[in-house]
Amino acid sequence: MNPFIDLRSDTVTRPTPEMRKAMFEALVGDDVFGEDPTVNALQEKAAHLFGKEAALFVASGTMANQLSIKAHTQPGDDVIIEAGGHAMNFEGGASAVLSGVQFFPIPGNRGVFDAEQVEAAIRVDDVHFPVSRLVVIENTHNRGGGTVFPLKNIQRIREVAAKRGLRMHMDGARLWNACVASGISPREYAAPFDSVSACLSKGLGCPVGSLVVGSKEFIKRVHRFRKMVGGGMRQAGFLAAAGIYALDHHINRMEEDHRKAKKMAQGLAGIKNVIIQPEEVETNILFFDVSSSERTAHEVAAALREKGVRVHPTAKIRIRCVAHLDVSFSDIDRALEVIAGVMKR
Ligand SMILES: Cc1ncc(COP(=O)(O)O)c(C=O)c1O
Repeated sequence: MNPFIDLRSDTVTRPTPEMRKAMFEALVGDDVFGEDPTVNALQEKAAHLFGKEAALFVASGTMANQLSIKAHTQPGDDVIIEAGGHAMNFEGGASAVLSGVQFFPIPGNRGVFDAEQVEAAIRVDDVHFPVSRLVVIENTHNRGGGTVFPLKNIQRIREVAAKRGLRMHMDGARLWNACVASGISPREYAAPFDSVSACLSKGLGCPVGSLVVGSKEFIKRVHRFRKMVGGGMRQAGFLAAAGIYALDHHINRMEEDHRKAKKMAQGLAGIKNVIIQPEEVETNILFFDVSSSERTAHEVAAALREKGVRVHPTAKIRIRCVAHLDVSFSDIDRALEVIAGVMKR
């Protein structure tokens, strides 16, 4: 049992009893030999779900993004991404190390940008410039506040990318949330992209794992790079079984997490010294500003922790909360009471 109401991230969930049972009963084999039936079943299921030729099970969202970037690019290339994007800011500088590429960050509106911005970011063909090779779109956008990236924007960006010979990768760590909030299927969202990464260990509640989907040729390259970074796992079917269980049972229920986040945002809006725009909350993530309390986000988070509520300070005055499988509506009520108590002081 987690003694805290833990709103730091949707990665803190523990497998449910039903998920543990599916893991316990999984048929397994050596996946480095391609012989784990449960990993193979998960990969086939994912490829079908996204309407792509092939899929690969990998250890994490970071590994999924970074191996995809590596498989799409050559050293020296430019990767166009939104300025707050996870792959650029929160993956340890991996793209510089593993792929030797540089990022071209473009400013978004809560993580969302449009085709004109991409067009303006693409380099002209001149020896002075790097080659613009890849556009990365994060959906939902974590630092943007769980923002759903509109499919219309994506389709127009695809037209520009296709015209200029760029590839497209979606960081869909929380794509499931975007699908549930928008009613757009994973297949529809994936169609304009050459590759998609999607996490099983965030809102879906699995203990470990992410998926990469794309063409057979692309996945073959990602597979080679996964081996290269030591990501080949043996009886990984125990983990893949959790993924299959989650894809079957945990997608639709995310609607509940979105309602929890909205309820929390509405509650926060009525609390002294909290600044939040509740109407901006689209999925399971929310951010609020504590600048008027004259305390830093870290100080507020420490005071909340003392009272059993954990939140994630992400900047000097900014705090993130994420709703998930392991917090209930009554936990949200309790968290709001605790926050109100701490913020009035
Ligand atoms: C949008 C996004 N992409 C990728 C990742 C990386 O996932 P992981 O922590 O599994 O490496 C995260 C993690 O929070 C994320 O929010």
